[in-house]
Amino acid sequence: MGAAPEHSLPLICILSFFQSRLGETGCDRNKVYRSRVPAIRNKDVTLQLCKALKCCVSVSGALRNLELNGLVLRESDLTMLTKGLNKLATLVHLCLANCPLGDGGLEIICQGVKNSTTLKTVNFSGCNLTWQGADHMAKILKCQTTGRHEETWAESLRSRRPDLDCMAGLRRTTLNGHTLIGDLGASALAESLSEDLWLGGSY
Ligand SMILES: *[C@@H]1O[C@H](CO)[C@@H](O)[C@H](O)[C@H]1NC(C)=O
Ligand SMILES: *[C@@H]1O[C@H](CO)[C@@H](O)[C@H](O)[C@H]1NC(C)=O
Ligand SMILES: *[C@@H]1O[C@H](CO)[C@@H](O)[C@H](O)[C@H]1NC(C)=O
Repeated sequence: MGAAPEHSLPLICILSFFQSRLGETGCDRNKVYRSRVPAIRNKDVTLQLCKALKCCVSVSGALRNLELNGLVLRESDLTMLTKGLNKLATLVHLCLANCPLGDGGLEIICQGVKNSTTLKTVNFSGCNLTWQGADHMAKILKCQTTGRHEETWAESLRSRRPDLDCMAGLRRTTLNGHTLIGDLGASALAESLSEDLWLGGSY
């Protein structure tokens, strides 16, 4: 009792279904330009949002689930968010689906994913990634696999069965809807998976 809401909030989810791309073809164009663009598309608004999230997650003791879906997040937004993620020791699920991060944006956010010991799933579906983003993700997975192997090895030396559920590192990575990942990206991911006994994923 008495905990401030930001200390006990387990889930934050912000979704935007606004489709600006509808305007790119034919006679829909005029219609879309006449319709109002929601405030969430404004870069000052997303920056304020990410600032607020950073402050919130930095003091949170309970946030397990963060989903920002369909938002256009710029580099400065992602940098802000990543600073927050780095201070957050409770996050289990992170979803940035349908945010057109691109490979550069993914790299920024992954600075917060890489070191997290609590994060189990990430969903970067429809994030406008190419093989370079996939390759970056594969490197992170590989790095975590090495950590896990060392941990399992240490556990077995102590004659205990390793508790896989308590083990740090990603268990599921979702990268749906990326035709540009191509063969190069797919093989980088496949290689990182072949060395990992614990990871599930769909690409
Ligand atoms: C997707 O990424 C490409 C570069 O790889 C960029 O040219 C394009 O504008 C991006 N699309 C969106 C919707 O952000
Ligand atoms: C992440 O881990 C690396 C290596 O352990 C460390 O050098 C780096 O400072 C960490 N980054 C953050 C943001 O904690
Ligand atoms: C990832 O996000 C997409 C788009 O919101 C959703 O359809 C899909 O179910 C999600 N997948 C997982 C494993 O969370």
